Amino acid sequence: TTPLDTTTSTLVTRIAALVTNDHHSSEAAEDTPLGLIRDAAVVIEGDRIAWVGAESEAPATDSRVDAGGRAMIPGFVDSHSHLLFGGDRTEEFGARMSGRPYSAGGIRTTVEATRRTTDEQLAANLARHVREALRQGTTTLETKSGYGLTTEDEARALRIADDHVDEVTYLGAHVVPPEYAGDPDGYVDLVTGPMLAACARYARWVDVFCERGAFDGDQARAVLTAGIAHGLVPRVHAGQLGPGPGVRLAVELDAASADHCTHLTDADVDALAGSRTVATLLPGCEFSTRSPYPDARRLLDAGVTVALSTDCNPGSSYTSSMPFCVAVAVREMGMTPDEAVWSATAGGAAALRRIDIGRITPGARADLVLLDAPSHVHLAYRPGVPLVAAVWQRGTRVL
Ligand code: NIG
Ligand code: FE
Repeated sequence: TTPLDTTTSTLVTRIAALVTNDHHSSEAAEDTPLGLIRDAAVVIEGDRIAWVGAESEAPATDSRVDAGGRAMIPGFVDSHSHLLFGGDRTEEFGARMSGRPYSAGGIRTTVEATRRTTDEQLAANLARHVREALRQGTTTLETKSGYGLTTEDEARALRIADDHVDEVTYLGAHVVPPEYAGDPDGYVDLVTGPMLAACARYARWVDVFCERGAFDGDQARAVLTAGIAHGLVPRVHAGQLGPGPGVRLAVELDAASADHCTHLTDADVDALAGSRTVATLLPGCEFSTRSPYPDARRLLDAGVTVALSTDCNPGSSYTSSMPFCVAVAVREMGMTPDEAVWSATAGGAAALRRIDIGRITPGARADLVLLDAPSHVHLAYRPGVPLVAAVWQRGTRVL
């Protein structure tokens, strides 16, 4: 006879500090955004969290894992990356570190390399970066197209992305490719017409790089509204290199997220504060382009929801490390360690409009990171140290 129920339950016990991001997760949770539980335990059943609470109250289970008095957090939710690319830009980085400024023009170098890359290489490169992120505790990844910039190259990037990551974004409007240099509006017609029609089936999101040197406010609006008409939800690259119309456009169109937000006017901050659009900050980008950091404190004090993400890409931010971003956000952007850890987990989930991830609470996906540290604060306190000791993704121990 076959057993009726093959779902096994596992108790993770002796967790010194458990970040739940949900103060309703248990009676034992602190009444703060992190919903911290000290001396905690978690029950995993199948791919879900079945129970969390004080270790002394833990129910009986089939098996047991000893966390050894260490801290546990939800898996990181990296809500912004560009991982469909060929080649890299080592030389450009070297030149920048000798004083050359970053410009959006470098994107075209990667477009050229990506077009020459086979499907197999593109998929292998993506899989390698997904694995690299997982080793650093990232259990959910968003990734974008944007280095193909032809209908075929964008569609194949998104098809490959769909096989490897949870969240897929159409970024045909990354820059105007060289073959449209004299006709940028012609390129917008392509992005909002045939390219969108070929890409929409693989993506949940539509994005645009709204910046001087990329797409202006009118072009960005055309791209996003066309995406919305095809059932995609907008997110916007805004305020990376200078202030512009991107943030207010994002709010106006109820975008899930405005990303970068390095250069903001007071009106931008007010608009974000009165909206449900998340501000996604990308400290790896300022680090790697040697630029001034966004002011997370200003946004948080205004009541804006802030997410932290890597922006992993070969040009402006070639890091897949969420712990690195947490450490930089705390040191350079005015965030407390609690705020940064929340923004890298629950904040990323909010930027992706997801409630099943980014929290350790009954019913949530069992995506868990055990740290080689007694507290989540060590992620900022011990920068550069590999603190990820174990990772569960959808209830399965993957590291
Ligand atoms: O988010 N800002 C636009 N896109 C990327 C940079 C891409 C590149 O330089 O290749 C970003 O920083
Ligand atoms: Fe980006």
